[in-house]
Amino acid sequence: MCGIVGYIGHRPAYPILIKGLHRLEYRGYDSAGVALMTPEGKLNIYKTRGKVEDLERFCESKDVTGTLGIAHTRWATHGEPNDINAHPHYSASGKIALVHNGTIENYNVLKEALEMHGCTFKSETDTEVLVQLIEYIKESTGCTLVDAVREALKEVVGAYAIAVIDTENPDTVIGARKSSPLVIGVGDGETFLASDATPIVEFTDKVVYLNDDEIAIIRRGEPLQIITTDNVPGEVDIKTLKMSVEQLEKGGYPHFMLKEIFEQPRTIHDCIRGRIGNTGSEVTLSGVIEHKDKFMNARRMIIVACGTSWHAGLIGKRLIQEIARIPVEVEYASEFRYSNPILDERDIVIAISQSGETADTLAAIQMARKCGAFVYGVCNVVGSSIARATDSGTYIHVGPEIGVASTKAFTGQVTVLTMFALALGTLRGTIDRETAAKVTGALRNLPALIKQTLKLNDTIEKLSSTYTYVHNFLYLGRGYNYPSALEGALKLKEISYIHAEGYPAAEMKHGPIALIDREMPTVVIAPNDGMHEKIVSNIQQVKARGGSVIAVVTKGDTTIAEIADHILEIPEVPDIISPIIVSIPLQLLAYHVAIKKGCNVDMPRNLAKSVTVE
Ligand code: AGP
Repeated sequence: MCGIVGYIGHRPAYPILIKGLHRLEYRGYDSAGVALMTPEGKLNIYKTRGKVEDLERFCESKDVTGTLGIAHTRWATHGEPNDINAHPHYSASGKIALVHNGTIENYNVLKEALEMHGCTFKSETDTEVLVQLIEYIKESTGCTLVDAVREALKEVVGAYAIAVIDTENPDTVIGARKSSPLVIGVGDGETFLASDATPIVEFTDKVVYLNDDEIAIIRRGEPLQIITTDNVPGEVDIKTLKMSVEQLEKGGYPHFMLKEIFEQPRTIHDCIRGRIGNTGSEVTLSGVIEHKDKFMNARRMIIVACGTSWHAGLIGKRLIQEIARIPVEVEYASEFRYSNPILDERDIVIAISQSGETADTLAAIQMARKCGAFVYGVCNVVGSSIARATDSGTYIHVGPEIGVASTKAFTGQVTVLTMFALALGTLRGTIDRETAAKVTGALRNLPALIKQTLKLNDTIEKLSSTYTYVHNFLYLGRGYNYPSALEGALKLKEISYIHAEGYPAAEMKHGPIALIDREMPTVVIAPNDGMHEKIVSNIQQVKARGGSVIAVVTKGDTTIAEIADHILEIPEVPDIISPIIVSIPLQLLAYHVAIKKGCNVDMPRNLAKSVTVE
């Protein structure tokens, strides 16, 4: 996600800001920029698509003087990654510059109102709307910069962390936050702002964490002042940092993978935000209603993806077929691209990719479009090659996924595919309002259910010691959770290097049961669904041959508790969203077994986060 750095003090600001952006690179970004107040009170803004190094090269011949400035790394949510959409954004007069991390959900409404007052916009971003609103309030009411920021933020619906500077207040930096973090570093005659403490910790260990709806007013030579958006004085609560830079990058977690597993309540909230209302069954997903005819008349759908995204596709198949009654095939992109498929304009291809750069998936898309098929993308990285190669699509909005093993992207993909199936079913009249309301209600409840399921972490950490030195694992699941078994097996094998296979549970008797012995533990995904009785007998078959069983069960399942060796209880959820909840203990199991084996969970051997070659 985006990164903010700000500085005001006695040293040149530019080197501190650039170093701070480098510290924030781990958050993932697609463009970078800096705004500097020169000693003469002039505002210089430099920004570019690409890396911080690209920004540095761009600034080599520029005036980078000044002891006050703000800087930003952008993770695109609204508007393609390009020079214009990069931050800082500036007001119409050029006097005010602003950087922002977060999403302004009502930016369209605010933009229309400003356009009615004659404002024009250069970028496609929600951020530019905010800086223009601040200037409009300041100029139309004659109020101070602080009051203009305060009043503008009261109009905003959504999440923000911002830093603002103004040529009419050349010795002031203003910071503010709501739902996106902002940290103030209090130095000796100098003050720092940042999205987290990593750019600050080398200069000072004294920090103030802004709270929601708080505004920090940082004036040269004056003590830090905090007020709320309602103009109520806030407390300046200075804390002493105890974490190293590396620990800070991971939010205090030992690994990015564990951080991203624990981020899932928030990332799922971000994924559904603005797409399902607080009540009712309405689903609004970009790229669906605009292509209503395509989806209404589709002969079939073909999902193309790789790895974890392919597993998400298998779940997507069941969701779309069950809810929207459209025939769906799921293909490995690497196979599909060479299969000479029978494909034409009556077909829809759904391309799923976290990185948006997977070569096989991109090639599959290009071939599908050549055959005349309509291609819809489900990606995480805004403006990625796959996002740009499709006819339409939607983003999963889970923020950058740093760990090579996909976790929050998988649950984000399945969540989006659930909403996609609901949107299609509503369009095609194949799902009644009551059923749709049940599913959207369950989706709304997902962040809380995931939070509850994450409480299994300690139990799984202890359990993982039992299985650290096994050489093989079997994962079994049925229905919606057959793909969960495949995904659980992939998680384990790719980070712990233990061979693991996922299978439909009923397939046991067609071969895999020959593998069962004391050395072959089996994970059985057995939520309280229509297949419960059958899966109980699968567990008994494994136990009868001396195999040990870890069962993922619905809380309170006493039947399986009596026969399995270990049970991991998850909350009761409707079948069709159970894979999202089931994936949490399976992610944690893979993580803890790999840690016990001393593996590098964030960068497993032989793997890359994005496979951009065949
Ligand atoms: C998942 O844990 C793996 N890292 C890998 O299978 C990944 O899902 C696959 O390479 C597809 O990547 P994409 O989603 O970025 O296209």
